[in-house]
Amino acid sequence: MNTSPPSPPPPLFQHRIALTRRLPRVVEREFAAQFEVETNEADVPYDDDDLAALLRRADAIVSTVTDRFDTSLFSASDIRTKVIANFGVGYDNIDVAAARGRGIVVTNTPDVLTEDTADLAVALMLAVARRLGEGERLVRGGAWSGWTPTQLLGTRVWGKTLGIIGWGRIGRAVARRAFRGFGMTILCASRRPPVAATVAEAGARVVEVDELLGESDIVSLHTPATPATRHLIDARRLALLQHHAVLVNTSRGEVVDERALITALETGQLAGAGLDVYQREPEVSPALLRMENVVLLPHLGSATVETRVAMGRRALENVRAFFEGLPVPDPVP
Ligand code: DGY
Repeated sequence: MNTSPPSPPPPLFQHRIALTRRLPRVVEREFAAQFEVETNEADVPYDDDDLAALLRRADAIVSTVTDRFDTSLFSASDIRTKVIANFGVGYDNIDVAAARGRGIVVTNTPDVLTEDTADLAVALMLAVARRLGEGERLVRGGAWSGWTPTQLLGTRVWGKTLGIIGWGRIGRAVARRAFRGFGMTILCASRRPPVAATVAEAGARVVEVDELLGESDIVSLHTPATPATRHLIDARRLALLQHHAVLVNTSRGEVVDERALITALETGQLAGAGLDVYQREPEVSPALLRMENVVLLPHLGSATVETRVAMGRRALENVRAFFEGLPVPDPVP
């Protein structure tokens, strides 16, 4: 009797798909059921040479924020890749114009990570304002000697003014939470005029960025990283913040001039910051690491099992649609 396990059925498509990082198991299995799949067993970020080689040997690449597809990678003569499905809503890691110039379709994974990323932005607001990082360090350090009426007094979040810069899906989801859950007054600033119904839903008032900075108790950033938003929050704008204000960034590190932020925090120009993203990830400035009034997370915005599986499936849908000759669901503009 043959006791060897049955061999898996052959993939549906003959195309070779490279996953640049390990994805949730269930997603890798779903890819492997449909395509010939190559994974990055070591799960360390690929460098330029690795990515150039992938472009030569894979029909599709499922990339992540840790892969930098710069212009130079698209100048090779022997590119085989037809589609890059980025596992993430942001796609600033890919020179999309250069990819398109080589006939490569680029897609992303919008919608599925909106709510979890919004949750994390709210978590950071609370963590900074209520000094959760300091409190946790106190307890873990064995230095907590018991409750006192004046210990680690934070700042109330409920009822305060929240400024949201970037009125996309995630910015709006944060606004809804803050408005309905925390009774906050919402200000929003956006490059494109916001849809009136979305502003009304969050009881928000539309203002210019500078005005928002001057009036908010907490500012949360939700713009994509583009040349236009690079260092949107610079020294001049940080100087507009009230001294008790808190800045939260779950978008991209490039949106903030990190050096200027450090100076502003050191001089007391603002009270604190909650950061999930950094200018040179995974490097985090030693100055930030020394500060008690900042909460620092390792780019966790979309990091739930539910969302990461949904992101993987969304990338798979895009790759599959492409090879079936259908319009891809999430082409990036
Ligand atoms: C996103 O989706 O943009 C996350 O930041 C991961 O890249």
